[in-house]
Amino acid sequence: MITTGQKIATQRTQRSRLPETDLDNVKFGRVFSDHMFVMDYQGGSWNAPSIVPFRDLEMSPATLVLHYSQTIFEGLKAYRTADGSVKLFRPQANIARMNRSAERMCMPTLPEGLFLDALVELVKVDREWIPQGEDAALYIRPFMYASDEYIGVKPSDGYKFIIFTCPVRGYYNEPVRVRIETEYSRAFPGGTGEAKCGGNYAGGLYPAKMGQDRGYHQLIWTDGLTHKYVEESGTMNVFFNIDGTLVTPGLDGTILRGVTRDSIIRIAKDEGIRVEERQVSVEEIVVAARNGRMRSAFGAGTAATIAHIASITFGDEEFTLPEIAQRELANKVGQRLDDIRRGNVTDPYAWMVPVA
Ligand code: COI
Repeated sequence: MITTGQKIATQRTQRSRLPETDLDNVKFGRVFSDHMFVMDYQGGSWNAPSIVPFRDLEMSPATLVLHYSQTIFEGLKAYRTADGSVKLFRPQANIARMNRSAERMCMPTLPEGLFLDALVELVKVDREWIPQGEDAALYIRPFMYASDEYIGVKPSDGYKFIIFTCPVRGYYNEPVRVRIETEYSRAFPGGTGEAKCGGNYAGGLYPAKMGQDRGYHQLIWTDGLTHKYVEESGTMNVFFNIDGTLVTPGLDGTILRGVTRDSIIRIAKDEGIRVEERQVSVEEIVVAARNGRMRSAFGAGTAATIAHIASITFGDEEFTLPEIAQRELANKVGQRLDDIRRGNVTDPYAWMVPVA
């Protein structure tokens, strides 16, 4: 689907790495396909969009991004579908979110049509890298960084925008144990919580590592002011099934506007499930889990898709949630989402964008 007519120059690799790659056994984010899309922002405009062989970047130690983290990214996926075609899942939503992040981080926005063309063309070139199988996809990582050589604190004048792809399977290979974090914060009102910027993730590493050292896969972040309200979980938005109602924190500026989150809400509502997007207190979660009213909880994200939460810990109490097989609501919504992405059912939302 070409939407701009702007020419993307393509230089194919002389030697594909695909024959020596075991697509059945890829680790998430460790294997990279043959090509990448690159484009530079200089003199107030985006120039020379091209697809080139995946290769290392060369940069000055004074490159701005290395010092002050003016960088943003996205994550989306391409799937092999039942009819043998390849499709992107909701790329326009990721493009819109990247441009919101760009504005928040004082970076130039990207022309939407060109961005979509770049995604389509890149996936077309490397479509053979998509693994076969149920949990397989091509994970697509667009990112932009400040490329000026300068160490004063100011927005860069120049930027580089790159997209590369990775063949992937699941992000988590088991239901996750999470702990509600009430000491450290991921975001504050007025901060960058809603932007998909590198710094948000860097700041979360230390508390997450402390949780991992105690056997938890992820934290559930709480609000930075009072630590009384749940926000999101590590790399995912978070959902709770309390007494048959799907409850998730509302988008208040400190939470990532998840595309998977949005898709789940849409599907659940259309399946007749009651959905509440609102403030969710830690107390409500703890009481529901303690009284057996929490029928399931899961994280939702592009990389993780739906990651079932096995247990939630608050303070010294760990609440084990029902077996996965008993999680009727989460399984139903997850299955429907998966069926749409894999083309097993018709796509009533026009979410899927064909690559060829
Ligand atoms: C995604 O789900 O695409 C993300 O960006 C999370 C990531 C940090 C792996």
